[in-house]
Amino acid sequence: MQFKTIIEPFRIKTVEPIRQTTPAQRAAAIRGAHYNVFQLRAGDVLIDLLTDSGTGAMSIYQWAGMMRGDESYAGARSFYTFQSVVQEITGFKHVIPTHQGRAAEHILSQAMVTDGKVVPNNTHFDTTRANIEARHGVALDVPIHEGHEPATLHPFKGNMDLEALARVLEERRGQIPMVMITVTNNSEGGQPVSMANIRGASALCRQHGVPFIIDACRFAENAWFIKQREPGYGDKTPLEIAQEMFRLADGCTMSAKKDGMANIGGFLAMNDDALALKCRNALVVTEGFPTYGGLAGYDLEAIAVGLKEALDEDYLRYRIRTVEYLSERMTAAGIPTVRPAGGHALYLDAKSWLSHLPQEQYPGWALSLALYVTGGIRACEIGSVMFGLQPDGTEKPASLELVRLAFPRRVYTQSHMDYVCEVLLYLNTVVKKIHGVRITEQPPVLRHFTAKFEPVGGVIVEA
Ligand code: F0G
Repeated sequence: MQFKTIIEPFRIKTVEPIRQTTPAQRAAAIRGAHYNVFQLRAGDVLIDLLTDSGTGAMSIYQWAGMMRGDESYAGARSFYTFQSVVQEITGFKHVIPTHQGRAAEHILSQAMVTDGKVVPNNTHFDTTRANIEARHGVALDVPIHEGHEPATLHPFKGNMDLEALARVLEERRGQIPMVMITVTNNSEGGQPVSMANIRGASALCRQHGVPFIIDACRFAENAWFIKQREPGYGDKTPLEIAQEMFRLADGCTMSAKKDGMANIGGFLAMNDDALALKCRNALVVTEGFPTYGGLAGYDLEAIAVGLKEALDEDYLRYRIRTVEYLSERMTAAGIPTVRPAGGHALYLDAKSWLSHLPQEQYPGWALSLALYVTGGIRACEIGSVMFGLQPDGTEKPASLELVRLAFPRRVYTQSHMDYVCEVLLYLNTVVKKIHGVRITEQPPVLRHFTAKFEPVGGVIVEA
C-alpha cells in the first residue's frame, strides 16, 4: 500500500513559540514600521516568509556536528570535513569558505571582472549583479522569454537563452571573463534549469574558452526538479544529478544559507589553480585564513552535514511539494501566481491580482501590507519598489509586480501552510478593497529596506 500523504520527514525536538497578534495590534505595528515590512520586529510576525536564506531549522546531526567544531586558526579538522563534502558533491579541486554567498561573489568578481567586461547569467541575483557592477562590469541577464511570463507553463522556466548566449559570446569576444548560471533561478520565480540547458551553456563556454560558474545556492532543489521533469534522470539520485551539473562547470559560488541548511556560511570552489591562488589572497584580507574563511569551525561542520541533508529524497519531496500544494490551491481559487510552482517560494502576481491599482501605487507592496495586517504573514515585494528607482532618480515601473512567499527549510508545518492558504483565499474576497501606497521618504539605493510609505486614503484594506 502506497499512502499519498507527504509528511514532514522529521519530528520536532525543540520548539520556538510564535506570538498570535490581533489585526489591531498588527495595524499599530505596521504603522510604527512606516508601512515597510522590513522595518517590523520579527516578534510581531506570525509566519515569516520574508526569505528562505539562513532561516532554516538545523537537524540533530548538524547540532551534534557543531559540538565537534575545531576552532583552530589554521588547518582545523572541521575544514577538512567541510572540504571533503564540498568536493564529493561538486568535484572542484579548490574549496574556499566564505561567510555567505555574496562574499564568494565579491572575491570572484574582484578576481575576474574589470571595467566594461560582460558577465552573462540566466538571471543575476541582486548581490551578484551588485558585485559585478561594483567592478564596473556589465551584469547581463539572458533568460528564456518564458521566464518573464508568469502564467506561461514550462518545465524549466529558469533556463538560459542559449542563442542569446552564443550571440553575446561571439559579439563580445575577449570581453567576457566568465559566464554564470543560477540554479534555481531565484529572480525568475525560483524556477529550475535543465541539465540540457546547463550542458548547452557549458559547451558554448568551452568552445570560447570562457570559464563557466554555477551560482549553486539551491542546487539540491534544482537537482530534484531535473529528477522529476527531465527524461533520463528519474532513476538517478539527487547527489548524482548534482555531481553531473557541477562536472559541466569550472567553479561555483554558494550561499550555504540555502541548500547548505545552515544559518550562515558559503563558499567558492573552482578547478583553476591560478584563480584559486588569487581568490585565497583576497580571502585572507577580507574574510579570514583559507581554512576557515569567514566562518567558525562549528559553522563548517553544520554546513558539511547540511549539504548532504539537502540532497535527501524524502526531504526534497516534502520541500518541493509544499510550494506546489500552495500553488495548486491558489490556481484553483483563481489567484494569479508565477506558474508552475518554483522551488523555495510561491510568487503572487500582484499586477494581475490587484489590477485595480496603477503601478505608481505599488500593487506588490500594497499586497505585502495586506498580508501582514490581515494574517500576520510577512512576505517580500519584488516589483517597482525594489526595482523602480533608477540611478538618475527617476521612476520606471518594473515589468512584474510580484510578492514572494519564501519558505524557510524545515520550519513550518502543513497546518501553517493551510493557514497561509486561508489568509490568501480570504484576501481574494476583499482584494478590490486593498489600497495602494505612496512613498513619503526614501534612500537613493536599495530603497525597499528602509523607505517609508503611507497607504493612499489612510487604510490598507477598506473595512
Ligand atoms: N545568489 C542567489 C541566487 C541568492 O538567492 C542569494 C541570496 C545569493 C546569491 C546571495 O547569498 O545572501 O548568502 O549572500 N538570496 C537571499 C534571498 C537573500 O532572500 O533570496 P547570501
